[in-house]
Amino acid sequence: MRPLEEWIRQHVSLERTPSAKLRYDAMDHQAPRGLAGVYRPFDPDEIYDWVDLTLIFAYLEALGTRGRLLDVGTGDGWPALPLAPYVREVVGIDLSDRRVAVSEENRARLGYANVRFAVADGTDLPFPDASFDGTVVGTALEQTDDLDKALAETRRVLRPGGALVATFEHLAVELSQNAEEEVEFFVEGERFIYRYVVKEVSPPREAEYELILRPAPASRRPLELAATSFPCRPGFVRREGEPGSRPLADDVAAAYGLEFLRGAAEAVSSGRYFELNHTDRRSLEGSLRDAGFGEIQICGRITRAAHGFFIALHEAGLLRGALRPHFEATCAAFATLWPIITPEADPVLFVRARRSA
Ligand SMILES: C[S@@+](CC[C@H](N)C(=O)[O-])C[C@H]1O[C@@H](n2cnc3c(N)ncnc32)[C@H](O)[C@@H]1O
Repeated sequence: MRPLEEWIRQHVSLERTPSAKLRYDAMDHQAPRGLAGVYRPFDPDEIYDWVDLTLIFAYLEALGTRGRLLDVGTGDGWPALPLAPYVREVVGIDLSDRRVAVSEENRARLGYANVRFAVADGTDLPFPDASFDGTVVGTALEQTDDLDKALAETRRVLRPGGALVATFEHLAVELSQNAEEEVEFFVEGERFIYRYVVKEVSPPREAEYELILRPAPASRRPLELAATSFPCRPGFVRREGEPGSRPLADDVAAAYGLEFLRGAAEAVSSGRYFELNHTDRRSLEGSLRDAGFGEIQICGRITRAAHGFFIALHEAGLLRGALRPHFEATCAAFATLWPIITPEADPVLFVRARRSA
């Protein structure tokens, strides 16, 4: 455990809460605002849309069905919404009310009638056995409190022979060091909020803490100064006008690390946290088997290979030229390569597993 995490555990009265309630309920948008297929239709004039559509076709290829799909932990509607034009029906669920509301707004904007979203827990799905032809997931099963339970539930609602196609965060590759920490500090009305996130490779785990500080009037001013001078990370803002998380690099650690928190200890009134056990390839395969899945393939995501491929085609003038009328067909063709993408170098795993009869 990192020193900052140890201090928090020892000094703050903490309530444990699901990640959906602490992290995902707090975000205006979870996916990048311009994400194709979610916030706007795909556009062949945007190079990255070729890459993102290829990933969607990789899901379709790996699923082997165009029937009724379940998307667990849909966030803002990914991959439920971009899959919708290609399948009969999609049901997207998320434990965060806010994410479901955002997904529904996105669905209405795109005008899809074959998608619906509901608040539900991936570890306790409100659907009958064998009620879906396929299940899709975008880095969400590892955000539930119990991966094994979520896998068992996913299997239960799949028809026999149906496939689960899921991406998983792969911390061993994602993190450039053994542990990564982030903080943010901001003011919200009368309260100050301190968030601390830690991810570790071994064992692969992640924890996030949200501490509420209610300073006495005399000590409010220095905290206000600290909150307003918190260094914002451009590009990812939780809500308008508020800072996003910052890596706990030396400068941030000096200003907002353990010493800062010790100094503000009097003001810390309460806190919430979540803790998640992530997985590595080997234990993921074991968990899938234990949950009753067979034909397990654990690959890397096709995104990086697709990116290199489409950049080369773009530079050759083909994306806006000869291939433009074949946008979908080109993405679909490249997507068939999903099984040969090796998992070693990718921070996200792409997994296909079938419910054995
Ligand atoms: C990393 S986000 C991924 C969102 C989206 N699938 C994507 O790829 O952009 C993880 C999502 O899982 C949801 N989640 C976490 N725990 C959950 C649970 N027990 N049941 C359902 N959804 C959950 C979160 O609210 C969040 O929207």
